[in-house]
Amino acid sequence: MNEIKGEDQAVRRIALAFGVSTLAGLALALVYILGGNVQAEGVLLALSLGGLGYGLAEWAGKLMSQGAEVGDYEDAPPPGAEEEVAGVVSEGWEASFGRRKFLFRMLGAAAGAMGLALVFPIRSLGPSPGTSLLRTAWRKGSRMVREDGQLVKATDLAVEGVLTVFPEGQTDQADSQTLLIRVDPDQLNSPDGREDWTTEDGLIAYSKICTHAGCPVGLYRVATHDLFCPCHQSTFDVLDGAKPIAGPATRALPQLPIEVDEDGYIVAKDDFSEPVGPAWWDMNR
Ligand code: FES
Repeated sequence: MNEIKGEDQAVRRIALAFGVSTLAGLALALVYILGGNVQAEGVLLALSLGGLGYGLAEWAGKLMSQGAEVGDYEDAPPPGAEEEVAGVVSEGWEASFGRRKFLFRMLGAAAGAMGLALVFPIRSLGPSPGTSLLRTAWRKGSRMVREDGQLVKATDLAVEGVLTVFPEGQTDQADSQTLLIRVDPDQLNSPDGREDWTTEDGLIAYSKICTHAGCPVGLYRVATHDLFCPCHQSTFDVLDGAKPIAGPATRALPQLPIEVDEDGYIVAKDDFSEPVGPAWWDMNR
């Protein structure tokens, strides 16, 4: 009798816990819809998770079968005892089944409310970035301009000169900033397949964004023909595909294939050879 009373109390506690969890989950969704409040969301999330956890732990500890005690009859059972026991067992089973069904419903409501509350923050992730992290504003035929928007002609740069350029009309696109350098074409050692990515008179273009951690590669050292990143001293060989030759960067600066159009302006033949910036941008490729 005491055991049944104890189970009833446990059922009430579990139902209360699941009920609290359900209400907290619904309130959490509501707070989020109304604009959100970090403190309130934290409290409600704790109540929702806590109620669910407490209910499950109580259910497992108090209502799950702990195993049956088995013993031998010393004497034969009195007449009618077996039927009486069978009746008691049947009633107990029906009551237990009803309790379990009720608790499963409460558990379903609590889990559903929490699931609903957890769906809303997914909307905060915003639209998918798509390929925007893998491409820049450079397109086939984009003319080069200086930071002030002035178009760049092939004749504007002397040998060993360097210029920061952008695609025309896109000077606000930080990921498109590019270093245009003129070197002696006889010294160039273009990687295979890139022989026509430079102009005949030695103009070559690389991304200005360091492949280590994204700093601007700001210094061209004429004597050694390398680009130097001041942040962590990565150094890139301009004559050899901007491969890293010192410092922590492990990836070459992406190269922009260029040519000179019929009016003498420098244009891109395509986007960069690969995603610009730190190496993690292209880890999902
Ligand atoms: S960001 Fe250029 S070396 Fe680290």
